[in-house]
Amino acid sequence: MDYVDSKRKSNICGKILFAAGITTLCIIFLKQSPDFSTPSQFSRQQAGVTHVLVTGGAGYIGSHAALRLLKDSYRVTIVDNLSRGNLGAVKVLQELFPEPGRLQFIHADLGDAKAVNKIFAENAFDAVMHFAAVAYVGESTLDPLRYYHNITSNTLVVIKAMASHGVKTLIYSSTCATYGEPEKMPITEGTPQAPINPYGKAKKMSEDIILDFSKTSEMAVMILRYFNVIGSDPEGRLGEAPRPELREQGRISGACFDAALGVIPGLKIRGTDYNTADGTCVRDYIDVTDLVDAHVKALAHAKPSKVGIYNVGTGKGRSVKEFVEACKKATGVEIKVEYLSRRPGDYAEVYSDPSKIKLELNWTARYTDIQESLQIAWRWQKSHRNGYGSP
Ligand SMILES: NC(=O)c1ccc[n+]([C@@H]2O[C@H](COP(=O)([O-])OP(=O)(O)OC[C@H]3O[C@@H](n4cnc5c(N)ncnc54)[C@H](O)[C@@H]3O)[C@@H](O)[C@H]2O)c1
Repeated sequence: MDYVDSKRKSNICGKILFAAGITTLCIIFLKQSPDFSTPSQFSRQQAGVTHVLVTGGAGYIGSHAALRLLKDSYRVTIVDNLSRGNLGAVKVLQELFPEPGRLQFIHADLGDAKAVNKIFAENAFDAVMHFAAVAYVGESTLDPLRYYHNITSNTLVVIKAMASHGVKTLIYSSTCATYGEPEKMPITEGTPQAPINPYGKAKKMSEDIILDFSKTSEMAVMILRYFNVIGSDPEGRLGEAPRPELREQGRISGACFDAALGVIPGLKIRGTDYNTADGTCVRDYIDVTDLVDAHVKALAHAKPSKVGIYNVGTGKGRSVKEFVEACKKATGVEIKVEYLSRRPGDYAEVYSDPSKIKLELNWTARYTDIQESLQIAWRWQKSHRNGYGSP
């Protein structure tokens, strides 16, 4: 009897061992298969953590926004097709915030609705900051369809994906270019919008889509109309690094730095006979750190079924001459300046009335010394002569 019992026992043990072995093999096999992975932290909502999709987060403003959000303990997903942004900026952010569940980068084109839907299906976003866009006025007049596609049509893709996946908050990057050439300064949010170039028109159309959609939706929407953005991260981690081929399209600060670095021989100032104090055009320059702060405040104040539209500027106009003088002081380089006749389509004065955003979101620009903003940006430019390419 003892002999039979022990034989039966060893049979049972063998079967158990066999089953355990098979199970272990199955688990190893499944884990190695591409379809098996533990669900990512980005796919689940986490109590107390707001997950923000930052489109265009490899670009100038988007990367600064992502940095601020990460610093403030938000969870961030960057989606960018890298057509104009820099993977180097994303790498800086990844090095600063390597902990799991903080930051992920997804390389995708917002024009690809299928890819966008997949991203929304696989990630639990609480809010979207939609920065991604092509953003050069001059280029928009030469290639308008690109602008309507990239700005207007892609915004539609994003909104539709948000609606079908129940993402409840949108912060939209708009621009003072949607106002065109207003007769009265300063520009308030009530100033009629009459854009004069495809860039401004494409942004205005996106605003219209968002506004119409919001009439029948509970989405919380904030539209921020930026004026001229300058500066970079005061701690020198990020900067503005447009592609070399886009430098010519670029903005005045980029041109000043290029002149100071000797990349271009000097600056060409077009128009000295405008009806302004020194005859050159007047613009409202907003530091990127302040701009990003406006986004964080907009996110905090966003309310379901409500739309907020805000100018983001300093409320103070500076002439091109003033800007160039500040740039000379900031860089310490005696930049060569050539004065030329007016460029068609440039308007004399553009500056904001930022009182609405102050009143409703408790936001005011703090970095209003353009020389200081340029000095900070110059430090980064000097140490990153090839942008994010090589330090
Ligand atoms: N820089 C300014 O002075 C200024 C002023 C007013 C408004 N804005 C707006 O701010 C936003 C950001 O501008 P920026 O100066 O940081 O520009 P940027 O070119 O530095 O960044 C834009 C980013 O969007 C990405 N992108 C473009 N098309 C895409 C697509 N189809 N799919 C995925 N990613 C795409 C680019 O690769 C880039 O990283 C834009 O919407 C722009 O219109 C900028």
